[in-house]
Amino acid sequence: MDNVTIDVHVNGLDQEVLRAEIRRALLRTPRELPTKYFYDDRGSELFERICELPEYYQTRTEHMLLSTIADQLVARTEAEELVDLGAGAATKTRVLLTAMAKANRLRTYIPFDVSEGIVRRVANELVTEYRGLRVHGVIGDFLEHLEHIPSGEKRLVVLLGGTIGNLRPDAASAFLSQVSAEMTSGEYFLLGVDLIKEAKRLEAAYNDAAGLTAEFNKNILRVLRTSLDLDFEPEAFAHVAFYNPSDQRIEMRLRSTREQALHLQTLDLTLTLAQDEDILTEVSVKYDRQKAETVLSRGGFHMVEWYTDPEQLFGLALARKA
Ligand code: SAH
Ligand code: AVI
Repeated sequence: MDNVTIDVHVNGLDQEVLRAEIRRALLRTPRELPTKYFYDDRGSELFERICELPEYYQTRTEHMLLSTIADQLVARTEAEELVDLGAGAATKTRVLLTAMAKANRLRTYIPFDVSEGIVRRVANELVTEYRGLRVHGVIGDFLEHLEHIPSGEKRLVVLLGGTIGNLRPDAASAFLSQVSAEMTSGEYFLLGVDLIKEAKRLEAAYNDAAGLTAEFNKNILRVLRTSLDLDFEPEAFAHVAFYNPSDQRIEMRLRSTREQALHLQTLDLTLTLAQDEDILTEVSVKYDRQKAETVLSRGGFHMVEWYTDPEQLFGLALARKA
């Protein structure tokens, strides 16, 4: 389509980078796997389905918040271009695009995501949904390829869904510094954060009755098995997710259900996992207003507005590059 451009900066899963990264992560104590490898086409689809689960209040709440503030946000930021980091299916982003279109301001949408299939699909959908819209998608790792965000004017940059929580606080600040370095002074940034709340509610969101989060968790093993020919057996692992109150984060792990020797030939590594030994696959750090303000200011932003729902489940911080 004429009004769609897609730049690819990761060729699917780059074998050499992937190998080194996976090897390093597996040799940490506790063992880890890098979170971004959840998101092949199947992983992105599973995440979309998680967003609709009754236990996963995050998406509904953020959607509702965005609907409430979209018009005032567009008026305040005067944005004509939307840069969406970790855009995924861009379901909630449509609320912002619609408000921009209503205000006659919508020109360009820039979805940035590591998951190629979903960006291509969404780009084609959006240019038919919004007349005159140009979509310039960037397929890349937002921790490494941010400089490939196309330059523009009157941009609003967003990081929705609580995705910042999938980075530990230091990494989150470092990442936000890179984001602000790509922006011009005075441009706006909108950050969605899942809020600290009672463990029971948080844990339910990551241990859904339908078992989709468990499938999503195990999908990382399928991705790595297929792309690197690793002999992970998803059936030999159990999904575990719990709230760690001292680090204010959900930890998602894969627990070995038996002692097993993994011959990870393409990594040149043999790994013996004890029964009940865990591999940490994701952290999902929870925030409050103060913590959001701190991470933003460490990243070179000044928070100008804080929005939350009456139950204080989810927060949206509007910030400006200092
Ligand atoms: N913004 C959407 C999707 C959130 S899911 C929403 O709010 O619903 C997180 C998204 O970030 C996924 O689409 C995933 O593919 C993407 N992602 C995760 N790690 C990434 C990375 N390192 N670089 C780029 N995209 C990443
Ligand atoms: C994308 N990210 C914000 C989700 C989260 O809640 O941390 C990923 C997810 N993991 C399990 N369920 C959803």
